[in-house]
Amino acid sequence: MGGEPRRAAGAMSVAIRLAGCGRTWPGGSIALHPLDLDIAAGETLVLLGPSGCGKTTLLRLIAGLEAPDAGGRVFFDGEDVTRLPIERRHVGMVFQSYALFPNMDVAGNIGYGLRVRGVARAAARRRVDEMLAMMRLDGLGGRRIEALSGGQRQRVALARAIAPRPRVLLLDEPLSALDARLREQLRQEIDALLRSLGITAVYVTHDQAEAMALGDRIAAMEKGRIAQIGTGRDLYHRPANDFVAGFVGDTNRLATPEGERLVRPEHLALRRSATGGFTVVQATFLGPVVRVLLRDAAGRELRADVPDEDVPAPGERVAVLFQGRSLETEAAASPA
Ligand SMILES: Nc1ncnc2c1ncn2[C@@H]1O[C@H](COP(=O)(O)OP(=O)(O)O)[C@@H](O)[C@H]1O
Ligand SMILES: [Mg+2]
Repeated sequence: MGGEPRRAAGAMSVAIRLAGCGRTWPGGSIALHPLDLDIAAGETLVLLGPSGCGKTTLLRLIAGLEAPDAGGRVFFDGEDVTRLPIERRHVGMVFQSYALFPNMDVAGNIGYGLRVRGVARAAARRRVDEMLAMMRLDGLGGRRIEALSGGQRQRVALARAIAPRPRVLLLDEPLSALDARLREQLRQEIDALLRSLGITAVYVTHDQAEAMALGDRIAAMEKGRIAQIGTGRDLYHRPANDFVAGFVGDTNRLATPEGERLVRPEHLALRRSATGGFTVVQATFLGPVVRVLLRDAAGRELRADVPDEDVPAPGERVAVLFQGRSLETEAAASPA
Protein backbone atom coordinates (compact mmCIF):
# COMPACT_ATOMS: atom_id res chain seq x y z
CA MET A 1 0.00 0.00 0.00
CA GLY A 2 1.79 3.06 -1.24
CA GLY A 3 -0.63 5.81 -0.23
CA GLU A 4 -0.53 7.17 -3.78
CA PRO A 5 -3.35 6.43 -6.25
CA ARG A 6 -2.39 3.08 -7.69
CA ARG A 7 -4.43 2.50 -10.79
CA ALA A 8 -6.24 4.20 -13.57
CA ALA A 9 -9.97 3.62 -13.70
CA GLY A 10 -10.85 1.05 -16.34
CA ALA A 11 -13.40 1.81 -19.00
CA MET A 12 -15.85 -0.56 -17.35
CA SER A 13 -15.52 0.64 -13.79
CA VAL A 14 -18.08 2.80 -12.02
CA ALA A 15 -18.11 5.12 -9.05
CA ILE A 16 -20.38 3.85 -6.28
CA ARG A 17 -22.29 6.02 -3.85
CA LEU A 18 -24.37 4.88 -0.92
CA ALA A 19 -26.60 7.53 0.64
CA GLY A 20 -28.34 6.89 3.95
CA CYS A 21 -28.10 3.12 3.50
CA GLY A 22 -29.03 1.11 6.57
CA ARG A 23 -30.33 -2.41 7.05
CA THR A 24 -32.67 -3.56 9.80
CA TRP A 25 -33.73 -7.20 9.99
CA PRO A 26 -37.36 -8.20 10.54
CA GLY A 27 -37.61 -8.21 14.32
CA GLY A 28 -35.68 -4.99 14.64
CA SER A 29 -32.01 -5.96 14.96
CA ILE A 30 -29.80 -3.52 13.09
CA ALA A 31 -27.10 -4.99 10.82
CA LEU A 32 -26.15 -1.61 9.40
CA HIS A 33 -26.83 1.87 10.74
CA PRO A 34 -27.63 4.37 7.95
CA LEU A 35 -24.34 5.37 6.32
CA ASP A 36 -22.98 7.36 3.41
CA LEU A 37 -20.10 5.96 1.40
CA ASP A 38 -18.33 7.01 -1.79
CA ILE A 39 -16.13 4.58 -3.70
CA ALA A 40 -14.19 6.04 -6.62
CA ALA A 41 -14.17 4.42 -10.06
CA GLY A 42 -11.31 1.94 -10.18
CA GLU A 43 -10.75 2.03 -6.45
CA THR A 44 -10.31 -1.04 -4.26
CA LEU A 45 -12.10 -0.47 -0.97
CA VAL A 46 -11.60 -3.03 1.78
CA LEU A 47 -14.31 -3.56 4.40
CA LEU A 48 -12.43 -4.68 7.50
CA GLY A 49 -13.96 -5.76 10.77
CA PRO A 50 -14.77 -8.65 13.08
CA SER A 51 -17.42 -11.24 12.37
CA GLY A 52 -20.97 -9.87 12.59
CA CYS A 53 -20.09 -6.17 12.11
CA GLY A 54 -22.10 -5.88 8.89
CA LYS A 55 -19.50 -6.33 6.14
CA THR A 56 -21.46 -8.88 4.13
CA THR A 57 -24.68 -6.91 4.54
CA LEU A 58 -22.98 -3.79 3.11
CA LEU A 59 -21.57 -5.82 0.22
CA ARG A 60 -24.99 -7.32 -0.52
CA LEU A 61 -26.54 -3.83 -0.59
CA ILE A 62 -24.02 -2.84 -3.25
CA ALA A 63 -24.65 -6.06 -5.17
CA GLY A 64 -28.42 -5.69 -5.14
CA LEU A 65 -28.90 -8.92 -3.17
CA GLU A 66 -30.28 -6.89 -0.28
CA ALA A 67 -32.40 -3.72 -0.27
CA PRO A 68 -31.58 -0.85 2.10
CA ASP A 69 -34.12 0.31 4.66
CA ALA A 70 -36.55 2.98 3.42
CA GLY A 71 -34.74 6.16 2.41
CA GLY A 72 -31.46 4.48 1.50
CA ARG A 73 -30.13 4.96 -2.05
CA VAL A 74 -27.43 3.24 -4.09
CA PHE A 75 -25.90 5.00 -7.11
CA PHE A 76 -23.59 3.65 -9.83
CA ASP A 77 -22.02 6.58 -11.72
CA GLY A 78 -24.81 8.82 -10.49
CA GLU A 79 -27.55 6.49 -11.70
CA ASP A 80 -29.96 5.36 -8.97
CA VAL A 81 -29.75 1.54 -8.98
CA THR A 82 -31.50 1.03 -5.63
CA ARG A 83 -34.33 -0.89 -7.28
CA LEU A 84 -32.20 -2.72 -9.85
CA PRO A 85 -31.80 -6.43 -9.08
CA ILE A 86 -28.33 -7.98 -9.09
CA GLU A 87 -28.57 -9.32 -12.65
CA ARG A 88 -29.00 -5.79 -13.98
CA ARG A 89 -26.17 -4.17 -12.01
CA HIS A 90 -23.29 -5.91 -13.83
CA VAL A 91 -21.45 -6.88 -10.70
CA GLY A 92 -19.18 -9.89 -10.29
CA MET A 93 -19.10 -11.71 -6.97
CA VAL A 94 -16.58 -14.02 -5.34
CA PHE A 95 -17.29 -15.83 -2.08
CA GLN A 96 -15.25 -17.65 0.55
CA SER A 97 -17.10 -20.86 -0.30
CA TYR A 98 -16.29 -20.49 -4.06
CA ALA A 99 -19.93 -21.42 -4.84
CA LEU A 100 -18.88 -23.15 -8.06
CA PHE A 101 -21.26 -25.39 -10.01
CA PRO A 102 -20.12 -28.98 -9.27
CA ASN A 103 -21.94 -30.40 -12.27
CA MET A 104 -19.93 -28.25 -14.73
CA ASP A 105 -16.24 -28.43 -15.57
CA VAL A 106 -13.87 -25.49 -15.18
CA ALA A 107 -14.65 -23.99 -18.60
CA GLY A 108 -18.38 -24.44 -17.98
CA ASN A 109 -18.12 -22.52 -14.72
CA ILE A 110 -16.07 -19.69 -16.21
CA GLY A 111 -18.38 -19.38 -19.22
CA TYR A 112 -21.57 -19.48 -17.17
CA GLY A 113 -22.13 -15.72 -16.98
CA LEU A 114 -21.41 -15.38 -20.69
CA ARG A 115 -24.04 -17.97 -21.63
CA VAL A 116 -26.58 -16.33 -19.32
CA ARG A 117 -25.97 -13.04 -21.12
CA GLY A 118 -26.36 -14.70 -24.51
CA VAL A 119 -22.79 -14.16 -25.69
CA ALA A 120 -22.19 -16.02 -28.97
CA ARG A 121 -20.48 -19.41 -28.66
CA ALA A 122 -17.23 -18.52 -30.41
CA ALA A 123 -16.82 -15.26 -28.51
CA ALA A 124 -17.59 -17.01 -25.23
CA ARG A 125 -14.96 -19.68 -25.96
CA ARG A 126 -12.35 -17.03 -26.69
CA ARG A 127 -13.19 -15.22 -23.47
CA VAL A 128 -13.01 -18.46 -21.45
CA ASP A 129 -9.58 -19.23 -22.95
CA GLU A 130 -8.47 -15.70 -22.12
CA MET A 131 -9.62 -16.16 -18.52
CA LEU A 132 -7.93 -19.56 -18.22
CA ALA A 133 -4.65 -17.94 -19.28
CA MET A 134 -5.12 -14.87 -17.07
CA MET A 135 -5.79 -17.02 -14.00
CA ARG A 136 -3.00 -19.49 -14.82
CA LEU A 137 -5.48 -22.31 -15.32
CA ASP A 138 -4.29 -23.23 -18.84
CA GLY A 139 -5.10 -26.81 -19.73
CA LEU A 140 -7.61 -27.19 -16.90
CA GLY A 141 -10.75 -26.20 -18.86
CA GLY A 142 -12.07 -29.77 -18.92
CA ARG A 143 -11.21 -30.54 -15.30
CA ARG A 144 -13.99 -31.36 -12.85
CA ILE A 145 -14.33 -28.93 -9.91
CA GLU A 146 -13.81 -31.62 -7.26
CA ALA A 147 -10.46 -32.46 -8.87
CA LEU A 148 -9.12 -28.95 -8.16
CA SER A 149 -7.16 -27.65 -5.17
CA GLY A 150 -8.63 -24.87 -3.01
CA GLY A 151 -6.42 -22.26 -4.66
CA GLN A 152 -7.44 -23.41 -8.14
CA ARG A 153 -11.10 -23.35 -7.17
CA GLN A 154 -10.80 -19.77 -6.01
CA ARG A 155 -9.06 -18.86 -9.30
CA VAL A 156 -11.97 -20.41 -11.19
CA ALA A 157 -14.42 -18.42 -9.05
CA LEU A 158 -12.47 -15.23 -9.83
CA ALA A 159 -12.38 -16.05 -13.55
CA ARG A 160 -16.12 -16.74 -13.55
CA ALA A 161 -16.82 -13.39 -11.86
CA ILE A 162 -14.56 -11.42 -14.22
CA ALA A 163 -15.42 -13.14 -17.54
CA PRO A 164 -18.55 -11.07 -18.30
CA ARG A 165 -16.54 -7.84 -17.73
CA PRO A 166 -18.51 -6.60 -14.70
CA ARG A 167 -18.45 -2.92 -13.73
CA VAL A 168 -17.86 -3.80 -10.08
CA LEU A 169 -16.14 -6.75 -8.44
CA LEU A 170 -17.35 -7.74 -4.96
CA LEU A 171 -15.30 -10.21 -2.95
CA ASP A 172 -16.51 -11.61 0.37
CA GLU A 173 -13.60 -13.12 2.37
CA PRO A 174 -12.40 -14.94 -0.76
CA LEU A 175 -9.24 -16.28 0.85
CA SER A 176 -10.51 -17.30 4.29
CA ALA A 177 -10.77 -20.99 3.43
CA LEU A 178 -7.13 -21.25 2.27
CA ASP A 179 -4.00 -21.90 4.29
CA ALA A 180 -1.66 -19.00 5.14
CA ARG A 181 0.91 -19.56 2.38
CA LEU A 182 -1.64 -19.86 -0.38
CA ARG A 183 -3.59 -16.94 1.03
CA GLU A 184 -0.61 -14.64 0.67
CA GLN A 185 0.14 -15.85 -2.86
CA LEU A 186 -3.44 -15.43 -4.05
CA ARG A 187 -3.67 -12.08 -2.29
CA GLN A 188 -0.76 -10.87 -4.41
CA GLU A 189 -2.39 -12.27 -7.54
CA ILE A 190 -5.70 -10.58 -6.73
CA ASP A 191 -3.91 -7.30 -6.06
CA ALA A 192 -2.14 -7.48 -9.43
CA LEU A 193 -5.39 -8.46 -11.12
CA LEU A 194 -7.37 -5.56 -9.63
CA ARG A 195 -4.60 -3.16 -10.65
CA SER A 196 -4.48 -4.39 -14.23
CA LEU A 197 -8.27 -4.47 -14.64
CA GLY A 198 -8.76 -1.06 -13.06
CA ILE A 199 -12.13 -2.30 -11.88
CA THR A 200 -14.00 -0.83 -8.90
CA ALA A 201 -13.72 -3.47 -6.22
CA VAL A 202 -15.03 -3.97 -2.70
CA TYR A 203 -13.16 -6.60 -0.75
CA VAL A 204 -14.42 -7.93 2.58
CA THR A 205 -12.01 -9.38 5.12
CA HIS A 206 -11.48 -9.72 8.86
CA ASP A 207 -7.71 -9.97 8.32
CA GLN A 208 -5.87 -6.68 8.84
CA ALA A 209 -2.76 -7.78 6.93
CA GLU A 210 -4.91 -8.62 3.92
CA ALA A 211 -6.65 -5.26 4.20
CA MET A 212 -3.34 -3.38 4.35
CA ALA A 213 -1.95 -5.27 1.36
CA LEU A 214 -4.95 -4.85 -0.91
CA GLY A 215 -6.88 -1.71 -0.28
CA ASP A 216 -6.50 1.75 -1.73
CA ARG A 217 -8.62 2.59 1.29
CA ILE A 218 -9.89 0.58 4.20
CA ALA A 219 -13.24 1.06 5.91
CA ALA A 220 -12.92 -0.27 9.45
CA MET A 221 -16.34 -1.47 10.59
CA GLU A 222 -17.61 -1.83 14.12
CA LYS A 223 -21.12 -2.98 15.06
CA GLY A 224 -22.88 -1.90 11.88
CA ARG A 225 -21.03 1.38 11.44
CA ILE A 226 -17.93 2.54 9.60
CA ALA A 227 -15.64 3.56 12.46
CA GLN A 228 -13.00 5.01 10.13
CA ILE A 229 -12.21 5.12 6.46
CA GLY A 230 -8.76 5.90 5.10
CA THR A 231 -5.50 4.43 3.89
CA GLY A 232 -3.81 1.68 5.84
CA ARG A 233 -1.36 4.30 7.10
CA ASP A 234 -4.22 6.52 8.30
CA LEU A 235 -5.77 3.70 10.28
CA TYR A 236 -2.46 2.48 11.67
CA HIS A 237 -0.89 5.81 12.62
CA ARG A 238 -4.00 7.90 13.26
CA PRO A 239 -6.73 5.52 14.42
CA ALA A 240 -10.04 7.26 15.05
CA ASN A 241 -10.73 5.30 18.23
CA ASP A 242 -9.52 2.45 20.44
CA PHE A 243 -11.41 -0.12 18.42
CA VAL A 244 -9.61 0.77 15.19
CA ALA A 245 -6.26 1.09 16.97
CA GLY A 246 -6.61 -2.35 18.48
CA PHE A 247 -7.96 -3.98 15.34
CA VAL A 248 -5.12 -2.91 13.05
CA GLY A 249 -2.29 -3.60 15.48
CA ASP A 250 -1.12 -3.76 19.07
CA THR A 251 -1.12 -0.65 21.23
CA ASN A 252 0.05 0.63 24.58
CA ARG A 253 -1.91 3.36 26.31
CA LEU A 254 0.48 6.04 27.53
CA ALA A 255 -0.19 9.08 29.66
CA THR A 256 2.01 11.81 28.19
CA PRO A 257 2.26 15.48 29.15
CA GLU A 258 0.08 16.17 26.07
CA GLY A 259 -2.55 13.74 27.34
CA GLU A 260 -3.25 10.08 26.90
CA ARG A 261 -2.17 8.50 23.65
CA LEU A 262 -1.94 5.11 22.03
CA VAL A 263 1.58 4.05 21.14
CA ARG A 264 2.51 1.07 19.00
CA PRO A 265 5.01 -1.37 20.53
CA GLU A 266 7.49 -0.76 17.69
CA HIS A 267 7.62 2.95 18.56
CA LEU A 268 9.13 2.27 21.96
CA ALA A 269 12.86 1.81 22.55
CA LEU A 270 14.63 0.29 25.53
CA ARG A 271 17.81 1.30 27.34
CA ARG A 272 19.38 -0.75 30.11
CA SER A 273 19.40 1.37 33.25
CA ALA A 274 19.75 0.46 36.92
CA THR A 275 17.39 3.35 37.70
CA GLY A 276 14.96 2.50 34.90
CA GLY A 277 11.32 2.28 35.87
CA PHE A 278 10.55 -0.99 34.11
CA THR A 279 11.61 -4.59 34.51
CA VAL A 280 11.70 -7.02 31.61
CA VAL A 281 9.18 -9.78 32.24
CA GLN A 282 9.51 -11.70 29.02
CA ALA A 283 11.34 -11.38 25.67
CA THR A 284 9.92 -13.39 22.79
CA PHE A 285 11.71 -13.76 19.46
CA LEU A 286 9.10 -13.26 16.72
CA GLY A 287 11.40 -13.18 13.66
CA PRO A 288 11.37 -9.57 12.45
CA VAL A 289 11.37 -8.24 16.04
CA VAL A 290 11.61 -9.30 19.64
CA ARG A 291 8.45 -8.63 21.65
CA VAL A 292 9.43 -7.47 25.14
CA LEU A 293 6.89 -7.44 27.94
CA LEU A 294 7.71 -4.88 30.63
CA ARG A 295 6.27 -4.12 34.05
CA ASP A 296 6.74 -1.16 36.36
CA ALA A 297 6.63 -1.06 40.18
CA ALA A 298 2.89 -0.42 40.11
CA GLY A 299 2.33 -3.55 38.01
CA ARG A 300 1.52 -1.65 34.82
CA GLU A 301 2.54 -3.47 31.65
CA LEU A 302 3.95 -2.28 28.35
CA ARG A 303 4.85 -4.14 25.19
CA ALA A 304 7.82 -3.05 23.12
CA ASP A 305 8.95 -4.52 19.78
CA VAL A 306 12.70 -4.10 19.37
CA PRO A 307 15.36 -5.32 16.91
CA ASP A 308 17.00 -8.63 17.78
CA GLU A 309 20.23 -6.99 18.94
CA ASP A 310 21.40 -7.00 22.53
CA VAL A 311 17.88 -7.38 23.90
CA PRO A 312 17.63 -7.04 27.69
CA ALA A 313 16.80 -10.30 29.41
CA PRO A 314 13.97 -11.05 31.83
CA GLY A 315 14.72 -9.51 35.21
CA GLU A 316 16.84 -6.65 33.82
CA ARG A 317 15.89 -3.05 34.60
CA VAL A 318 15.32 -0.75 31.63
CA ALA A 319 14.28 2.77 30.79
CA VAL A 320 11.57 2.97 28.14
CA LEU A 321 11.97 5.67 25.49
CA PHE A 322 9.24 7.13 23.34
CA GLN A 323 10.33 9.63 20.68
CA GLY A 324 13.67 9.90 22.43
CA ARG A 325 12.20 10.78 25.82
CA SER A 326 12.23 8.52 28.82
CA LEU A 327 8.75 7.62 29.97
CA GLU A 328 9.80 7.52 33.60
CA THR A 329 10.92 11.13 33.75
CA GLU A 330 8.52 12.69 31.29
CA ALA A 331 5.40 10.62 31.69
CA ALA A 332 3.79 7.72 33.44
CA ALA A 333 2.77 4.65 31.54
CA SER A 334 -0.38 2.71 32.06
CA PRO A 335 -1.57 -0.54 30.53
CA ALA A 336 -3.78 -0.67 27.45
N1 LIG B 1 -30.83 -12.66 6.94
C1 LIG B 1 -30.55 -12.22 8.19
N2 LIG B 1 -31.54 -12.10 9.11
C2 LIG B 1 -31.27 -11.65 10.36
N3 LIG B 1 -30.05 -11.29 10.79
C3 LIG B 1 -29.04 -11.39 9.91
C4 LIG B 1 -29.22 -11.86 8.58
N4 LIG B 1 -28.02 -11.84 7.95
C5 LIG B 1 -27.14 -11.38 8.84
N5 LIG B 1 -27.73 -11.09 10.02
C6 LIG B 1 -27.10 -10.48 11.21
O1 LIG B 1 -26.67 -9.17 10.85
C7 LIG B 1 -25.42 -8.84 11.45
C8 LIG B 1 -24.39 -8.51 10.38
O2 LIG B 1 -24.14 -9.67 9.61
P1 LIG B 1 -23.07 -9.70 8.43
O3 LIG B 1 -23.30 -8.53 7.54
O4 LIG B 1 -23.16 -11.05 7.82
O5 LIG B 1 -21.69 -9.51 9.21
P2 LIG B 1 -20.19 -9.85 8.75
O6 LIG B 1 -20.20 -10.14 7.29
O7 LIG B 1 -19.40 -8.65 9.12
O8 LIG B 1 -19.77 -11.05 9.56
C9 LIG B 1 -25.04 -10.05 12.28
O9 LIG B 1 -25.43 -9.81 13.59
C10 LIG B 1 -25.84 -11.19 11.65
O10 LIG B 1 -26.09 -12.19 12.59
MG1 LIG C 1 -19.59 -11.86 6.29
